[in-house]
Amino acid sequence: MSHKLGRDSFGDPANAGNLMSIEEAYALLNEWVPNERLRLHMKQVAAVMKAWAIEKENADEQTALKWELAGLLHDADWEKHPDDHCRIIIEELEKRNTDPDVIHCIASHGPNYFGVEPNNTMDKMIYAFDELSGFVHAAALIRPTRYEGLEVKSVLKRLKSPAFAAQVSREDINDAIARTNLSLEEIIQFVIDHQKDVS
Ligand SMILES: [Fe+2]
Repeated sequence: MSHKLGRDSFGDPANAGNLMSIEEAYALLNEWVPNERLRLHMKQVAAVMKAWAIEKENADEQTALKWELAGLLHDADWEKHPDDHCRIIIEELEKRNTDPDVIHCIASHGPNYFGVEPNNTMDKMIYAFDELSGFVHAAALIRPTRYEGLEVKSVLKRLKSPAFAAQVSREDINDAIARTNLSLEEIIQFVIDHQKDVS
């Protein structure tokens, strides 16, 4: 099953700056994603994206909301439309006249699946955070103290063990990191720090 989107232009440039409120995004999330585990993943990616925008990109409130919305909604159609994953949420956001940056960011969160290249920092970071967020969470869940005391080096060790969270593509992680100018260690630490309290 190909998830290729077959286009690389999303939304209408006239909608630049047009963002739904975070409440509206949560309403969509709750309606579209009954699975609690998946909702948590999306909230975690949203928290990490927002934090990165504010702490590392000096983003203003509006820009930070863009990052947060992309993180929160990137897998919104995964549960109900696995065969059309990404296409459905993109079309929904286009209908809602959402800022094209948010839509492009969601479209590029898996370039090897959707065929859309990440072309700015927001796009590149969602790609890197998406896989690592789930992986870090899996690494935390098997510890008695969960995130408490979870160190980067133990996550790195798990990454080297192919049997652990085998569904997480190490190749995608390496590809995503290579597109940033950052180290894997730095990104893992950031993910641990900013998703540990998300519930
Ligand atoms: Fe995801």
